[in-house]
Amino acid sequence: MTQTEAPNRARFHAMIEGTQEDWSIIAGHSIELFQGLPDRLLAHLRLLGGDFGGFAVDRLTHSLQTATRAYRANRDDEYVFCSLVHDIGDTLGPANHADVAAAVVKPFVSEQNHWMVEKHAIFQGYYFFHFLGLDRDAREKYREHEWFDYTAEFCEEYDQAAFDPGYETLPLEHFEPLVRSQLATARRSLYSGTDS
Ligand SMILES: [Fe+2]
Ligand SMILES: [Fe+2]
Repeated sequence: MTQTEAPNRARFHAMIEGTQEDWSIIAGHSIELFQGLPDRLLAHLRLLGGDFGGFAVDRLTHSLQTATRAYRANRDDEYVFCSLVHDIGDTLGPANHADVAAAVVKPFVSEQNHWMVEKHAIFQGYYFFHFLGLDRDAREKYREHEWFDYTAEFCEEYDQAAFDPGYETLPLEHFEPLVRSQLATARRSLYSGTDS
């Protein structure tokens, strides 16, 4: 059986040949792709395990500890979710990890939390940029932004504080139900006409 004749696959070899029947098949498969997102996100978080990068804890522990601190401060589920995944871009985006994380969470969180995740890298720089010959006050260009204090608080209370090997960090399993519930519905997506 050739690939063209395979059941449950579109027949086109170039999109310009696509038909409604083709796209009904593809749309059906996209549901499976979407349903697999929580497992893939959890797998990507696990990729951060064992990578210390010179820090006292590995990147997975840092992520879990950031989320644990937010959870114990009674932040809401969406905030804890953002805390957990804020550095998920470290593997694919070492030069712009916050952009990667922000893109991942964007369909599922408020604009405020998306902004926090996207900008956390420059705000976190307040705690170390000066050791790298950079400007620790680079975040000041956002001083008048309505979410400046919100993002500065995230870095101060949770992110910059989450490098302690002695802290009782909750395991990834603790956050799995939260990850699954937060990823259940995409509020903003180009493919549902709810984002541009
Ligand atoms: Fe980060
Ligand atoms: Fe971080």
